[in-house]
Amino acid sequence: MTKQQLMRSIRVHEYGGPENLKLEQVQRPEPSEGEVLVRIVAAGVLPIDWKIRQGIIKFPISFPYTPGTAFSGVIEELGSGVSGFEVGQRIYGRSTNGTYAEYTTASVESIAVLADTISFEEGAALFGGATTAWQALVKEVELKSGDRVLVHGAAGGVGLFAVQFAKRKGAYVIGTCGTDNVEFVRSLGADEIIDYKTTSFDQEVRDVDVLFDTIGGETLERSWPLVKQGGTLITIVGMPNPEKAKELGIHAIRPTNLASGEDLVEIASLMESGKVKASLADSYPLEQASQAHERSQTGHGRGRILLAIASD
Ligand SMILES: NC(=O)c1ccc[n+]([C@@H]2O[C@H](COP(=O)([O-])OP(=O)(O)OC[C@H]3O[C@@H](n4cnc5c(N)ncnc54)[C@H](OP(=O)(O)O)[C@@H]3O)[C@@H](O)[C@H]2O)c1
Repeated sequence: MTKQQLMRSIRVHEYGGPENLKLEQVQRPEPSEGEVLVRIVAAGVLPIDWKIRQGIIKFPISFPYTPGTAFSGVIEELGSGVSGFEVGQRIYGRSTNGTYAEYTTASVESIAVLADTISFEEGAALFGGATTAWQALVKEVELKSGDRVLVHGAAGGVGLFAVQFAKRKGAYVIGTCGTDNVEFVRSLGADEIIDYKTTSFDQEVRDVDVLFDTIGGETLERSWPLVKQGGTLITIVGMPNPEKAKELGIHAIRPTNLASGEDLVEIASLMESGKVKASLADSYPLEQASQAHERSQTGHGRGRILLAIASD
């Protein structure tokens, strides 16, 4: 193995706490047919990353594995059969090969070009943030101008995009967040903000056309009666109960589709034109991935936590 083929990567050898994120030297991956090799500049730290690491979400993984799916970076090499992309292009997207590393591979169907005006940090915040909100509020429902939309967790890595996408469709948007994030959620365009720390949202809101839940648990349970007949409850945390939905005369959805290449291009173009903005939380070097997970596990904050892996 030559030195050039090695890279730094976080690896997990067994389920457990943040201390199980180990920085190691491993072999650089090679792109298969239809894939590109990416030199990662920034990786998004998603809540699902620590849920998988802890064994809370059982994914079919084999140890040791490299966590992470969301990245931005530069194409280093093209696999066979790849067209429409070039070495040196700035891209963002999703990898199934781990992104807490200096290099990863990604299918051409799960990447899109990042304009020079979008930073790598913003690009790394899009997959699992903008893409999730997009699936929920653009692909799963057809929002009409004037629809009332409630977004739970409006300051989070997903919620902040949900507010912006719903506003772009002309909806009246109500966002929930903690006291420290009220002004931030207002700046995203929300028409009404409910500080969940001081106010019971279920005393304040009713008759929403679409309720988008990124919190789950008790928040989700208290949300069902707020959706008007014929309306839609979408949750990305837990599975909604179809019988309860039937009883209440509403639709209840847990989106499962991943964003397509075309979706990624559309989102990048909204970012490029300044119509949608990312928001970034703290950024950590690769060797501090465990601190990044500890931060994410608090369940509070604003915008996407990142790993800053290389300078561009
Ligand atoms: N199924 C999927 O496809 C999918 C995809 C992406 C994410 N998810 C899941 O969705 C959840 C959110 O993800 P994320 O990336 O947005 O997380 P995140 O960036 O960690 O954001 C969490 C947000 O929730 C807010 N919050 C906490 N408690 C709240 C409450 N009771 N009411 C309202 N807001 C509250 C926090 O704001 P404060 O600081 O103001 O409390 C914070 O801004 C995670 O559980 C994640 O695993 C699922």
